[in-house]
Amino acid sequence: MKKKYQYSVEIAGSCNFRCPSCPVGNMDNRQKAKGLMDFKLFKDIIDKISIEKPSDNTVVSVFDWGEPTLHPELPRFIEYINSKGLISRVSSNLNTNADLSRIIKAAPDQFKISLSGTQKETYETTHKNGNLYLLKSNINRLKYLKDKFSSKTEFIFGFHVYKNNLYRDFNELKDLAKELDFKFEPIVAKLMPIEKVMAYLLQKGIIGKEYLQGIKTTITSKDFELIKLLIFSPEADHKKWISFADSVRNSLTGFCKKRELKTSIAVDGSVPLCCGTFENQFKVSKNFLDETTENLHKKRLKNPFCKTCMELGLHLDLARSRVIDYSFSERPFSKSIRRIASELIGRPSS
Ligand SMILES: C[S@@+](CC[C@H](N)C(=O)[O-])C[C@H]1O[C@@H](n2cnc3c(N)ncnc32)[C@H](O)[C@@H]1O
Ligand code: SF4
Ligand code: SF4
Repeated sequence: MKKKYQYSVEIAGSCNFRCPSCPVGNMDNRQKAKGLMDFKLFKDIIDKISIEKPSDNTVVSVFDWGEPTLHPELPRFIEYINSKGLISRVSSNLNTNADLSRIIKAAPDQFKISLSGTQKETYETTHKNGNLYLLKSNINRLKYLKDKFSSKTEFIFGFHVYKNNLYRDFNELKDLAKELDFKFEPIVAKLMPIEKVMAYLLQKGIIGKEYLQGIKTTITSKDFELIKLLIFSPEADHKKWISFADSVRNSLTGFCKKRELKTSIAVDGSVPLCCGTFENQFKVSKNFLDETTENLHKKRLKNPFCKTCMELGLHLDLARSRVIDYSFSERPFSKSIRRIASELIGRPSS
């Protein structure tokens, strides 16, 4: 049995936002099915998952690409996951008019609020279509409901860190998390999906066309704008990867957490290769319900795209480093490190 296993069930295939770092925002035509998952399909998927149950710690996230609070039946979905003894997880941009009261009453185990700023300019640049005031009012409402229902849900600020929000926004949100008794989880923002990163590496002449394997997406001026804001560009990640000794690279190749410890299920019940890929050709099954666990895993293991992805180190979170972990922590000087970094690379707003 695995220590932890995660299923990402995409209950809403579209989003009210167009974040430039996410394929929903940076890939013109959504190639996967849009729309909302119906309860019958969801129930069948959860029933299958609860039989397979690869771990005592099996988590079901109600999102992959898309905004789960757009689904009016979200509370019912959460209750169904909980009724099967699985761990329920929501991640939201919290910029919808969803019935938060019903959602919190349904008692998800975890509710993550994805955001990238406390200032209008920073937030609305990287969370495109977002409204800071709606976000703030929903955050306050969540806190009110958390207290009202003595909620056991773990509330998390999933803070996407860019060059422009490294200091003031970071500090303000960290303080707010303390005040509200929410967890604060900063994460270095990256360009998604994997296809977009490969298209960028091709455009920069770092890799040849043979790596692309039919990838359709290309790089636009908006992608360049976004990449300028990233703390680590795809090029920097690539440089880091090739700087490793061959033996280190070999030891990091072959195993991919996204393949071994996670399965994504799209809104139409189909299965993408992993949560990092978006284009249709990387679908490994038309229907999760028709697949045995073993067969699905075999299909994923056989997919030639993984070999290319691993060769480039794209299966790893290369942005993690001791310096980053330290500067995001509460240790002595971490705030000063972020301030200096912000002055050097960012556009500090205070
Ligand atoms: C694609 S989102 C879908 C769920 C929901 N719409 C949201 O934004 O939370 C899935 C997860 O990706 C994370 N995410 C989004 N953009 C990111 C980025 N640029 N870098 C790292 N993680 C990101 C979000 O925090 C979220 O937990
Ligand atoms: S990251 Fe979430 S909120 Fe932003 S476009 Fe993607 S799905 Fe929507
Ligand atoms: S190796 Fe790459 S493409 Fe394959 S599952 Fe892992 S992240 Fe996805």
